[in-house]
Amino acid sequence: MSAHAQRSGCYRTPQVHDRKSAGGSGARCRASEHSARLRGPRRPGEPPLDLGSIPWLGHALEFGRDAASFLARMKEKHGDIFTVLLGGRYVTVLLDPHSYDTVTWEPSTRLDFQAYAVILMERIFSVQLPHYNPSDEKAKMKVTLQHRDLQALTDAMYTNLRTVLLGEPAEATGDWCKAGLLEFCYGALLRAGYLTLYGVEASPGTPESQAQDRTHSADVFHTFRQLDLLLPKLARGSLSAGDKDHVSSVRGRLWKLLSPARLAARALRSSWLESYLRHLEEMGVSPEMQARALVLQLWATQGNMGPAAFWLLLFLLKNPEALAAVRGELEHTPRQTEQPTSQMSTFPQKALDNTPVLDSVLSESLRLTAAPFITREVVVDMALPLADGREFSLRRGDRLLLFPFLSPQKDPEIYTDPEVFKYNRFLNPDGSEKKDFYKGGKRLKNYCMPWGAGHNQCLGKSYAIYSIKQFVFLVLTHFDLELVSADEEIPEFDLSRPRCRPEWTNGRAYGAVC
Ligand code: HEM
Repeated sequence: MSAHAQRSGCYRTPQVHDRKSAGGSGARCRASEHSARLRGPRRPGEPPLDLGSIPWLGHALEFGRDAASFLARMKEKHGDIFTVLLGGRYVTVLLDPHSYDTVTWEPSTRLDFQAYAVILMERIFSVQLPHYNPSDEKAKMKVTLQHRDLQALTDAMYTNLRTVLLGEPAEATGDWCKAGLLEFCYGALLRAGYLTLYGVEASPGTPESQAQDRTHSADVFHTFRQLDLLLPKLARGSLSAGDKDHVSSVRGRLWKLLSPARLAARALRSSWLESYLRHLEEMGVSPEMQARALVLQLWATQGNMGPAAFWLLLFLLKNPEALAAVRGELEHTPRQTEQPTSQMSTFPQKALDNTPVLDSVLSESLRLTAAPFITREVVVDMALPLADGREFSLRRGDRLLLFPFLSPQKDPEIYTDPEVFKYNRFLNPDGSEKKDFYKGGKRLKNYCMPWGAGHNQCLGKSYAIYSIKQFVFLVLTHFDLELVSADEEIPEFDLSRPRCRPEWTNGRAYGAVC
């Protein structure tokens, strides 16, 4: 699969200011001096600096167009650590997966995860929270997403996936129904995820209340999707006047749909929602601002699962051998739970934990398509030791960026034919999970990082994995699924589309880290 667009061949040669070439010459030098003056002279031990040819902007345009190709080109030129100028910000890029742990386990007093998040919260979702304390918020979320309440969330998700997927009239008639695969996957997971976290019409559910759940969650999804499609432009500040009007009307509608007053009447609200609302109340956040924060959270919690499930299903539909292997594995799952498929009202974690083929397929499709920018704000001047013994100086106020999509995920030294989908790549011959991957002759700890790593690894990882598995299970056991144009190439992977939580990921979604 070609995962990202080919670069056009018309780049201007960028400027490199390393210790040897810092003098430069002629016209190329003027732009660099301009930027260098803003920053002050280079200091000993800093990574190679590449300012690009446009004053202040540096490489921002190329980065915004196709971050993966740009970073691959820079890696070729400078190796696995370098600093680039992106729209007035100096961003040090580290692409050595053996050294990622040094960054992801660094305390936030040195490398901060949250600072830029607050700016994005305001820029994209118009959320301003007084006395906002990210650590406090995270501690509260952790309990409700990971430990105590994970089983309850997983059970509720299964029920809601069934409501959304199996209750639609088209499904009941048994007719073929033509739909876009992305909208189908995104819609089903977001609607069920919304009902799971934000509550349902009634408990116990009746056919009428479930029909209402379907109508209401479809309204939330379609409204949300209009905003979602404009988010890249919104984050970059490049909305047209017409787009701006559209964004404000869609956002206004979502704020109404998710207002605390409307949510108050909902049944089976998750402990995540109860805890988050309490947290907002304790901070003295007004009901209007609470609604905005709830819209932000809808995107943050639901923005990735649908696209991840889309890629997984697409790879399965394109690879009959993989599809047969997954089907074979899932056929045995109900027997493990001693329930016939059609009557399974829950999908126990024990059964969900015992699907190595599906796990491998999920890891492989995330390896090929999950492209988070893992960014941290450099809070103090500091030394960054790399795994190979080298040490580099980082400057306070700069930004640090890891891009695991390039390495380890697409690194040919780690994965043979890294562009190719191999459903059993993460399986050993005996069927157990394969975990040993090597680079430079050394075993890698971080060989695939769709969920981040270290202190800020995804808190929703288990919930997301269980939800995606349940979705795949329901789709494969209750639907006949065919691609309308089976010969069509797999679409290019669009790195400018939202991937992950904007407030936690410093705009990784938007091809911008500044
Ligand atoms: C396929 C789905 C998902 C993917 C690929 C994904 C990916 C990520 C990544 C890469 C990070 C780390 C960011 C960094 O270190 O810079 C992250 C953080 C986070 N994710 Fe997810 N995520 C997914 C689904 C979810 C869901 C469903 C939830 C919640 C219901 C969630 C909640 C979080 C939270 C709270 C954090 C921040 C952790 C912290 O503050 O340290 N994620 N996610």
